[in-house]
Amino acid sequence: MAIKSIIMSSPIWSCWVVLFLCYWSSSTAAVPVPTPWPHQFHSILFMNYSGALSLVDLWYDWPNGRNFNIVQDQLGGGDPLYDLEWNNGTSFFYTKKHKHCRSAQLAVGILRPNWLDGANYLGQQHVDGFLCNVWEKVDFIWYYEDTLTKRPVHWLFYTGRAAHVMTFEVGAVLEDHEWQAPVYCFQNNTSSSSPPCS
Ligand SMILES: *[C@@H]1O[C@H](CO)[C@@H](O)[C@H](O)[C@H]1NC(C)=O
Ligand SMILES: *[C@@H]1O[C@H](CO)[C@@H](O)[C@H](O)[C@H]1NC(C)=O
Ligand SMILES: *[C@@H]1O[C@H](CO)[C@@H](O)[C@H](O)[C@H]1NC(C)=O
Ligand SMILES: *[C@@H]1O[C@H](CO)[C@@H](O)[C@H](O)[C@H]1NC(C)=O
Repeated sequence: MAIKSIIMSSPIWSCWVVLFLCYWSSSTAAVPVPTPWPHQFHSILFMNYSGALSLVDLWYDWPNGRNFNIVQDQLGGGDPLYDLEWNNGTSFFYTKKHKHCRSAQLAVGILRPNWLDGANYLGQQHVDGFLCNVWEKVDFIWYYEDTLTKRPVHWLFYTGRAAHVMTFEVGAVLEDHEWQAPVYCFQNNTSSSSPPCS
């Protein structure tokens, strides 16, 4: 009791309290968190996978539990790869010109709007001409968000696959009929349980 009151009344103690409060308030104010994804958006992504370039139309539609990546390789002959993911874990990968289709059953559904929660903040960096906040999540993805507009600018998978966000239309929705996988996906299907590489 006596020791406690000596410590409590000593100037050192109050000094520690002040230091702690300063540290606590500055650290909570200083660490930015990633902006959750809008529940619906359309984005055009310029992809670079070790020099192999492609354009991706990304349609993210959380309320309807679906996500689309329409991938056009550079000079790919006009037969884009449709990568359609449902929140029940079913994905379809198909082309329309050559009418190939493959489906896969994954253990998880599409990304949640807050999928970046818990990411590790790495500071700020200039990317593609934008000053960005940078996070890393489970050594899987590095994510770059514009400090001013809070829009994503760039992300990079551990595989080396890099996305540069060219457009980001919040609220844009692809019409329902566009999400219908073609009939040949339901005929002789080759299904696999392995996910496509990121
Ligand atoms: C694509 O990425 C590679 C590194 O993997 C880089 O050398 C090259 O300049 C990039 N190409 C474009 C068009 O950004
Ligand atoms: C998941 O949903 C899609 C779209 O409604 C459907 O085509 C598919 O069969 C469903 N998969 C499962 C495992 O129920
Ligand atoms: C397609 O694959 C799914 C999943 O393996 C299977 O349940 C379904 O019966 C298959 N459909 C046809 C038409 O083969
Ligand atoms: C699916 O494949 C089987 C065996 O290869 C074949 O007999 C059948 O006609 C095919 N069905 C369709 C819808 O292509």
